[in-house]
Amino acid sequence: MINKRIHIFDTTLRDGEQVPGCKLNTEQKVEIAKELERLGVDVIEAGFPVSSLGDFKSVQEITQIVQETIVCGLSRAVENDIKVAAESLRHARRPRIHTGIGTSDIHVKYKLRTTREKIIERAAAAVKYAKSFVEDVEFYAEDAGRTENEYLARVLEAAVAAGATVLNIPDTTGYCLPEEYGKKIKYLRENVKGIHKVILSTHCHNDLGLATANSIAGIQNGATQIECTINGIGERAGNTSLEEVVMIMRQQASLNFETNINTKLLNHMSRLVSDNMGVPVQPNKAIVGANAFAHSSGIHQDGVIKKRETYEIINPADVGVDNSIIVLTARSGRAALAYKAKQVGYDLTKAELDVIYQKFLILADRKKEVNKIELTHLLETNLRKGLRA
Ligand code: KIV
Ligand code: ZN
Repeated sequence: MINKRIHIFDTTLRDGEQVPGCKLNTEQKVEIAKELERLGVDVIEAGFPVSSLGDFKSVQEITQIVQETIVCGLSRAVENDIKVAAESLRHARRPRIHTGIGTSDIHVKYKLRTTREKIIERAAAAVKYAKSFVEDVEFYAEDAGRTENEYLARVLEAAVAAGATVLNIPDTTGYCLPEEYGKKIKYLRENVKGIHKVILSTHCHNDLGLATANSIAGIQNGATQIECTINGIGERAGNTSLEEVVMIMRQQASLNFETNINTKLLNHMSRLVSDNMGVPVQPNKAIVGANAFAHSSGIHQDGVIKKRETYEIINPADVGVDNSIIVLTARSGRAALAYKAKQVGYDLTKAELDVIYQKFLILADRKKEVNKIELTHLLETNLRKGLRA
């Protein structure tokens, strides 16, 4: 069976950077964009050009260094936004304008203070205007997650008729359940005239911790692009995390999906974004967290030392991590202690291990973790005292 190619649309520099405290300067954005291209993403959403002169310049500079990857600029369904986005993308080899408008009743009534019919008109007009600048126009239906499917299909149909090349279905508030989001994508696939000519995209937020699950449900039901960010950074609880969806597609071969991502660069990307934004990655973050390949309980350590796959479904090397880590704590067993002792040059006999292990437990109970220096000291002092003989 031929795998279905899923496009990865990275919005770290737009939806990710929109987070308070995550602001990047142009130089940092350009560096990240370069690395995103090396990572193999299909689209870089470089910014929201009308929002500030700084963002405009960043998008402009990114278009000058990115070679093959599509560079995208966000806009509202407002002529000036679209014009400014087009201007910032003028030198891009492959420009895309991303324009759209809120479609849920709550957005239509309270935020936009208009009617459903007017939204359809504005959506079509925005796409048509964007098409006067670039061929590749993506339309987003903001809060599509909470938009009634029948009406959503009508909005999207108008966008396709106006020339949209990509339809983005954001679960802006992270509200949907995976089954519900999957059904929405399926409904749209089956009910929007002309949808087979365009790319259908997921864009999920993580308010209920479901962004990754919803994105996967989306591609299982006919979407072919996932919008995501490095480390899942983004508004409120964040966006779909790039490294998670990419590794799900890689590890779950039966899904029959593939991407263009060089997964060996995932850890490097994670650190680059985290360092530049000054936002640490939570230690238990899937794929890129400091503990993603660390084992601290005796039972797990014994298994991993005998065969890594007993407790790891991903080879750390595949995501750019050197090794699995055995952490010495008061929960560690003899197997881990012997293994770590060997790493620092001590091949312990069974009798030595028995004695050292008891001393190790006393030390480990006092500390969160026994590091290499402390372990070496423990071994040196006790073996010098004659345990070895
Ligand atoms: O979450 C959202 O709806 C968005 C759109 C602007 C695409 O980020
Ligand atoms: Zn978003």
